[in-house]
Amino acid sequence: MVEEEWARRGIDVNTPSVARLYDYYLGGKDHFAADRAAAEEILSIAPELRMAARENRAFLGRAVRFAAEAGIRQFLDIGTGLPTRGNVHEVAHQVAPDARIAYVDNDPIVLVHARALLRDAREQVTVAPGDLRQPEEILKSPEVQHHFDFSAPMAVLLVAVMHFITESDDPRRIVATLRDAMPSGSYLILSHGTGEHRAEAADRGTKVYERANSPLVLRPRQEILDLFDGFELVDPGLVWLPEWRPDGPPPHGDPSQELIMCGVGKKV
Ligand SMILES: C[S@@+](CC[C@H](N)C(=O)[O-])C[C@H]1O[C@@H](n2cnc3c(N)ncnc32)[C@H](O)[C@@H]1O
Repeated sequence: MVEEEWARRGIDVNTPSVARLYDYYLGGKDHFAADRAAAEEILSIAPELRMAARENRAFLGRAVRFAAEAGIRQFLDIGTGLPTRGNVHEVAHQVAPDARIAYVDNDPIVLVHARALLRDAREQVTVAPGDLRQPEEILKSPEVQHHFDFSAPMAVLLVAVMHFITESDDPRRIVATLRDAMPSGSYLILSHGTGEHRAEAADRGTKVYERANSPLVLRPRQEILDLFDGFELVDPGLVWLPEWRPDGPPPHGDPSQELIMCGVGKKV
């Protein structure tokens, strides 16, 4: 579908969208001129973001597989992003064909694409509009209520999305609300951008995101760790993306180039 057609359908093609920027970093095709211009600006500041986006998807895949192998059969993926390779339901269903997945996002273009992708998917997969800033609304949405058994353990994915939540929206409250709805034995799968090693690039990058549909809030390691309050981090804890249970040879990248930390916590 061309840009004009999306605009006619009410999609804002002129404001860079964080979902479409990420799609651009991943080499996808669902972005418009305004997204490409902003993405190129950001990549000129932090070219390693392309690799970080791929590593983030790889972490998501490994973490979903880990949770499915640990017996989890329900996955609530908030801030789903545009469909790409290795979507949560595809990974989970390789381990457990009966796993149920709910995809939630607040970007209408993500919902259109996710629904198109899932036309042929099984009935265990659903797509719902929802805004992470109102976690109570997500939890009580008919799609989520109908889809999940809140008495059985689940995995909640907040992968590369909490860094679009500002302090005024109280990120710790948001995760705590989700945590309180999760039975013990559930998992939180989370990744989050940080500017720890790259203060100057982080400043310049976040300025570009001020033009986007969500601001970017990079946080120091301790603040990311605080989001796991009430969860026990599974090994190896909160680490750089390639360090989380790599399924290939041990990573030997330069940690000073890493942008995103990740971890999986188990609710006790
Ligand atoms: C960088 S993408 C990450 C996609 C996927 N989770 C991954 O890691 O591959 C961030 C996604 O979060 C969504 N998002 C941003 N703020 C959100 C909010 N307040 N509520 C729900 N989704 C949000 C964006 O629309 C986008 O699809």
